[in-house]
Amino acid sequence: MKLKHFLAEGFRNLHDVDIAFHPELNILCGKNAQGKTNILEALWLCSGERSFRGAKDKELIGKDADGYSLSLSFEDKRRTQQITCAVKRQELRTKKVTLNGVSLRSQSGLFGALECVIFTPEDLELSKGSPEIRRSFCDLSVSQLKTSYRAVTDKYRRILDQRNNQLKNIASGRSDDSMLDIWDAQLAQMGAYISVLRFNYCKKLQKTAAALYSEISSGNEQLTIDYHSTIFSELEGRVDYKNDLAAEYLDRLQKNRADDIRAGFTLRGVHRDDLRCSINGMYMKDYASQGQHRSAALIMKLSQAYILTEETDDPPCILLDDVMSELDVSRRSFIMNKISGMQVMITCCDEELVRHYNGKLFRVEQGSVTEE
Ligand SMILES: Nc1ncnc2c1ncn2[C@@H]1O[C@H](COP(=O)(O)OP(=O)(O)OP(=O)(O)O)[C@@H](O)[C@H]1O
Ligand SMILES: [Mg+2]
Repeated sequence: MKLKHFLAEGFRNLHDVDIAFHPELNILCGKNAQGKTNILEALWLCSGERSFRGAKDKELIGKDADGYSLSLSFEDKRRTQQITCAVKRQELRTKKVTLNGVSLRSQSGLFGALECVIFTPEDLELSKGSPEIRRSFCDLSVSQLKTSYRAVTDKYRRILDQRNNQLKNIASGRSDDSMLDIWDAQLAQMGAYISVLRFNYCKKLQKTAAALYSEISSGNEQLTIDYHSTIFSELEGRVDYKNDLAAEYLDRLQKNRADDIRAGFTLRGVHRDDLRCSINGMYMKDYASQGQHRSAALIMKLSQAYILTEETDDPPCILLDDVMSELDVSRRSFIMNKISGMQVMITCCDEELVRHYNGKLFRVEQGSVTEE
């Protein structure tokens, strides 16, 4: 993946942005609050994803603009493609999105065309933060390899919300359990599928991440990442998610039903699973140092890029938002080494941190960009 040419207008504080990217290294440098992260956010939206800052279009439109428009050309291993995305303040519901001139029904239709891996300072919490952060990381990674996975996790979430609502109503005597059987069957089907895909992804992640972690710790430390299921005691070697695993999942849900009703929500399921990270056999969440967390997070993200490259035979574009200042010299050079050959966009306030690397330097000031 190589991003080539990017135009942005009216997106947050960006205006008249017209960037011709370097095929490898692009440094976006500027003081705080000038629009560096806004550029990465816009590129990320072009990959079909939701904003990594959780923003909706209403917030993304520049405060004095009547809409925003983005245009991006990029090259994958086969051809050059073109994405456009435009929204008007007056017609927020009718976003105009095109891929190679063809209109798409929604921005998520772009999913699967352009692959990026983003790394923000929040990602440094990957091994330390709540299980939800690791589940999202895993789900995003899986969906980059299998585009249809996204619809399953979205649907699982919708059905789970309905089930939880009803559980609350049963607990307070306002409802009976009439719908639970139907929802349980659907959750079991989807949950079994999600478990298998996540488990398989974790195995790849474990392999890639362990090798990289051994390198960053000069062979002294061993990182392991295990998928921890709240439903299945063993997933190794099991593939029949439609029958065998779905039946076991359903059985578990039904056995837990009384507990779920008492709690008012679904206590077990893929929405409570975790990726358990350990170093030398010690569970990171309880024992790891700050530096070990940083290395592990860095390496999990790097592994995401490596696995994507391996499976699609096309390296993703790497977006590094403000991470250089968060890393020490040795981790900075480690990551730069490991992503060489991939196209990278780096934002930073202090250009000294990246001065000795070859590429293009862009200055970002009050929402506009100039190439040095
Ligand atoms: N909808 C909007 N309309 C206009 N300006 C906006 C909008 N949303 C955000 N901004 C402005 O964008 C700027 C922040 O941009 P961004 O987050 O890209 O900064 P940055 O250059 O990455 O800074 P830092 O180095 O602090 O991370 C702020 O000045 C903010 O007021
Ligand atoms: Mg920023």
